[in-house]
Amino acid sequence: MADRINVALLGSKFMGRAHSNAWSQVGKFFDVDPSPTLHTVVARNTAELATFARNWGWQHSTTDWHQAVTSGEVGLVDVATPNDVHAEAAIAALEAGKHVACEKPLAGTLADAEAMATAATQSPGRTFVWFNYRRVPAIAFAHRMVASGVLGRIYHVRAVYLQSWGGPDTPLLWRFQGDVAGSGAHGDLNAHIIDAVRFVTGEEIVSVEGAIEHTFIEERALIEGAGASAGDAKGRSTVDDTVMFLARMSGGGVASFEATRLATGYHNANRFEIHGERGALRFNMERMNELGVYVIDGEGSTQGWTTIDVTRGDDGHPYASAWWPPSHAVGYEHTFVNQAADILTVIGGGEPAVPLPDFTDALQTQRIMQAAIDSAREHTPVAIAKPRVTRD
Ligand SMILES: NC(=O)c1ccc[n+]([C@@H]2O[C@H](COP(=O)([O-])OP(=O)(O)OC[C@H]3O[C@@H](n4cnc5c(N)ncnc54)[C@H](O)[C@@H]3O)[C@@H](O)[C@H]2O)c1
Repeated sequence: MADRINVALLGSKFMGRAHSNAWSQVGKFFDVDPSPTLHTVVARNTAELATFARNWGWQHSTTDWHQAVTSGEVGLVDVATPNDVHAEAAIAALEAGKHVACEKPLAGTLADAEAMATAATQSPGRTFVWFNYRRVPAIAFAHRMVASGVLGRIYHVRAVYLQSWGGPDTPLLWRFQGDVAGSGAHGDLNAHIIDAVRFVTGEEIVSVEGAIEHTFIEERALIEGAGASAGDAKGRSTVDDTVMFLARMSGGGVASFEATRLATGYHNANRFEIHGERGALRFNMERMNELGVYVIDGEGSTQGWTTIDVTRGDDGHPYASAWWPPSHAVGYEHTFVNQAADILTVIGGGEPAVPLPDFTDALQTQRIMQAAIDSAREHTPVAIAKPRVTRD
């Protein structure tokens, strides 16, 4: 029989729901050891917390994250709060010897991210970051295809993450408060595509050659109860609405990145295209079960883009055999279940289906994010240092 590990989850809204679903589903679809127990959920709203805990099957609930992450009964701490809480909670958990799975971006600031990566090297706990798009089967398969050499030398990477919910009618949520979020579309969306590009290509981003950071909507309506009363009161947005940047890759290729919450018409267009000397790949999260592949071989007259339906477990598509027969598509929530399975596998001493980012890995993504901001503000290229913190 599988060992059990008690999970404490911090956060009960968007990611709180996604992670609760993952911890409750993972043992039903994957053969995991240890097997998770939904032990404690932590959030700020006491009125909603008990209902949330009951609905998702959490045994305990509290508003005191420190008590939860240091509890002797908890083995794995899952941080799904706004970004400003990540460092404090994760470091406390690591100091208590827990395994920690933290939402992305690793932190709101590079200094916090560095402190977290350092704490990880000094703890027996393993660390994981929820860059869940690595666990979209099509992206995991793209990673394997590139590693097998199908593209050859990589020339171009083009990555965009386009959403449109951040228009002038959207109030001053924590995501628009720099002291809480750290950044806007950049940490929210560029973090994902930077990680995806590093993961799929297997290359590092070695410099940012130029960048734009821009805030279109400088004031937003204050939310009642968050220091405001109902009415027309507005507060300043202190984050970007978009960050775009150009970068160089360690293999000599060039890359472009664009993140925005003002791409009218797009809701979750997380897309990349990679062009190599022998072929190309393209992915769009809005058609997440498909991977586009172009391979240069045979007769030129019959060459063209192929759309692979990445749902065939018997043919080796990652994660597919845990789910449904071919062409019975998976969705957004499956990426979190897939990641929960890999986290438990690593804690149990096994290997994940594809590499899992730990705090050191996510720190490198954070360095690239910081380099883009420095480049935008200083109007200059910025070289990116290699990770200094490594686990022995
Ligand atoms: N992986 C992804 O695709 C993805 C998607 C969305 C958000 N995120 C990340 O997940 C994190 C949470 O985002 P969200 O959209 O779920 O936010 P949210 O606003 O929907 O929920 C935040 C939760 O954190 C709780 N919380 C806030 N401060 C707390 C504190 N001090 N102690 C205990 N609980 C506290 C709140 O009560 C709430 O339940 C962020 O880091 C965000 O960047 C990741």
